[in-house]
Amino acid sequence: MKLDDALSVWEDFRGVLGDSVNVQIPATTNNILEVDIGPVGWRGYPRDKSKLSLYFLWMRKVKALKDAGIDLDSNSTSVVDIGCGNGMFASLVGTDTYLGLDLVDAHISRCKKAFPNRTFVKLDFKNGLYGKGTLDPINFKIPRDDNSVHAIMCNSLFTHIGQPAVVERYLGEMDRVLVKGGCAYTTWFRSPPNELDDGDGRTVYLESDIVNWLSRWEKVSATEGETTQHDDQWETLYRKIK
Ligand SMILES: C[S@@+](CC[C@H](N)C(=O)[O-])C[C@H]1O[C@@H](n2cnc3c(N)ncnc32)[C@H](O)[C@@H]1O
Repeated sequence: MKLDDALSVWEDFRGVLGDSVNVQIPATTNNILEVDIGPVGWRGYPRDKSKLSLYFLWMRKVKALKDAGIDLDSNSTSVVDIGCGNGMFASLVGTDTYLGLDLVDAHISRCKKAFPNRTFVKLDFKNGLYGKGTLDPINFKIPRDDNSVHAIMCNSLFTHIGQPAVVERYLGEMDRVLVKGGCAYTTWFRSPPNELDDGDGRTVYLESDIVNWLSRWEKVSATEGETTQHDDQWETLYRKIK
């Protein structure tokens, strides 16, 4: 991203982020704007400086949800982050009505320390890349009531779930807990342009299958995922309308 473009995105986001995070813009490198942000996850996170900074990729996701009318900073907004990792999304939302789910002990303990007012749950599921657990993710259940959640983030989750039945289970659970009007942000490696792959390392599904899975909801936006680069995932935002 060119510096001018980055700065204009940045201006766009200054208002979105408010005071909830401590943002510094320390340097520009080769015309790429790099941003470090507390309290968790960003400093030291491996970045490929030739690509758009991960931070800006994340700002786009937050902005899409905000533009869809989800107030991510109000405690009245219930958010679920499936495959929350080391808390990147958590670091960009203000609501403490937040549930993060992940398979990795270190991620969960780090997130609990960084966000003591929020709920993080370690899932004991098997996964070819991340999970040393014993349970089958086909039994996944989101510990939330029906029709109670306003936004769900699954960033680079379905890119590591190679069993279609498990994907369907996850989407079904998401549908169960979302309120009418609530939004699901999911990212995918789709084919085309990628080669199909049913491994958990880098799962690729047919675009038509993904669209079919998401068709229970209404499309708000779908962007990126035009190339086979690792960071270039197809980002889809859908809303539950019935
Ligand atoms: C590529 S990382 C993405 C982490 C985070 N969402 C981010 O974008 O920074 C994928 C995460 O999904 C988690 N994960 C993998 N399979 C999962 C499953 N079946 N249920 C919940 N989380 C899972 C992994 O433990 C890992 O932290």
